[in-house]
Amino acid sequence: MNSKEKPRLVFATNNMHKFKEILHAIGDKVELLNLADIGFKGDIPEDQDTIEGNATQKAFFVYEHFGLNCFADDTGLEIDALQGEPGVFSARYAGESCSFEDNMNKVLSRMTGEKNRKARFRTVIALVEKGNLTIFQGEIQGTILLEKRGTEGFGYDPIFQPEGRQETFAEMSLNDKNTISHRALAVGELLAYFSRQQEEK
Ligand code: IMP
Repeated sequence: MNSKEKPRLVFATNNMHKFKEILHAIGDKVELLNLADIGFKGDIPEDQDTIEGNATQKAFFVYEHFGLNCFADDTGLEIDALQGEPGVFSARYAGESCSFEDNMNKVLSRMTGEKNRKARFRTVIALVEKGNLTIFQGEIQGTILLEKRGTEGFGYDPIFQPEGRQETFAEMSLNDKNTISHRALAVGELLAYFSRQQEEK
């Protein structure tokens, strides 16, 4: 692919863990900018009541304020025994400005004695190009452990063990997590979309 033809895109996030993960997965297929690259320092509003709604709100915010094509992701950990919680509230499950530790502790405490430990991470990516919205999705099934294991990654990684694996996300290398994660699957859908676009040109 000629570098001049690479799509230039903003990934609307302040989370450098996620930016690195996506940059790693995307490779050189697109020229990827983050919010710092476009000089935006604040927080983008995300006050919708679904994961899809939040991703869409963030992508349109950048498109409308900067006139740049943009994608945004939103992820939730959905636990069956907690009726899909923390879900859209995953970032602030234990309250405003809580830590990853606080969130995991709340999940573990609410899951005390619970036998059904099934859960999934679900990522939605909203892509806004010239004002048009396209949605991509990825999800991974797994289990909520009884205690934290591992120090890699972020968020709920130490308590989530993907189906068919012996390690938690926090015990995997970035490379390993990236081949199977919810976000990697959603990014895969996004990349397949870009490839189709290139072929049509
Ligand atoms: P966000 O919408 O991607 O910012 O995700 C919301 C919250 O879900 C984050 O604050 C994390 O607590 C959690 N989360 C998102 N992605 C992951 C992941 O890959 N591993 C563990 N937790 C995650």
